[in-house]
Amino acid sequence: MHEQRPVCLITGGASGIGAACASAFITAGYTVIIGDIQHDKSRAVAAALGEHASACELNVAVEADFENAVTALMATHGRLDCLVNNAAIVGALGPIAEIPLEEFEYAQSIIFRSVFLGMKHAARAMQGQGSGSIVNIASAAGLVAGYGPHLYSACKAAVVQLTQSVALELIEQGIRVNAVCPGNVETPIHTGVTDERWLRRMDKIRIDRADDQPMGRMALPAEIADAVVWLASAQSSYVTGHALVIDGGLLAGPPWRKQPDYYREFRPARR
Ligand SMILES: NC(=O)c1ccc[n+]([C@@H]2O[C@H](COP(=O)([O-])OP(=O)(O)OC[C@H]3O[C@@H](n4cnc5c(N)ncnc54)[C@H](O)[C@@H]3O)[C@@H](O)[C@H]2O)c1
Repeated sequence: MHEQRPVCLITGGASGIGAACASAFITAGYTVIIGDIQHDKSRAVAAALGEHASACELNVAVEADFENAVTALMATHGRLDCLVNNAAIVGALGPIAEIPLEEFEYAQSIIFRSVFLGMKHAARAMQGQGSGSIVNIASAAGLVAGYGPHLYSACKAAVVQLTQSVALELIEQGIRVNAVCPGNVETPIHTGVTDERWLRRMDKIRIDRADDQPMGRMALPAEIADAVVWLASAQSSYVTGHALVIDGGLLAGPPWRKQPDYYREFRPARR
């Protein structure tokens, strides 16, 4: 007989926000499957989370990997309640005139096409059960230009648009689809390395970025994961097609402490 725990598949769950999501979903009582290309790491994350977490090899650029992952989890657990399309890379940096076409193709295959593939195969399982929640990790960089490199920003904007478009379709089958748009989060993605050197590199990045953040700090991965779990839960039952910004005020405007004295010092209006 199939178990009753809700089931969640998280791509890129070996690190950063994805690993924090895996932990938060376990705490919320889910069975969690982590799909990542860093298989040793995802196995270690799953092992640390206990018997209700497992890992599968999943490259989000490969359609067959999504197909196999969904087929396998349906055979084992009998349902898919939540897909978190989280895996991504920064992609190529630099000026538009210098970016080779293959960098565009590569970036969009990991950052954007992956979300299409994930939703396509999750929808197959969720439509059969008439329920489910998909959470796509987009970015503040996908909402306002200038917060990330060209390809990353454009792909994240596309993730938001596809989220909203698919939400309108799947609403009729009881499936909700939302995006989360984090600002700056303390994860290896900023450091260019995936091994333990990332923490040392993060020490400098944390200090460099703090000044530009209205809250004076970057987010911790758990602060994003809590919102993802909420979007998966019945507590957000009327929320769909939404892009939830979690950025410590970044897109609201410049930090108050950086605004000119003219605005910060009280002066009564001229009458
Ligand atoms: N860290 C931030 O400041 C920030 C801000 C906004 C949005 N995001 C988004 O959050 C998500 C998670 O990023 P993170 O910051 O935790 O980074 P991270 O580098 O810590 O984690 C990314 C994970 O994705 C996996 N991955 C990469 N390519 C993959 C592939 N082809 N197939 C399967 N897995 C793959 C990596 O192995 C890694 O485990 C990404 O979508 C990222 O764009 C991050």
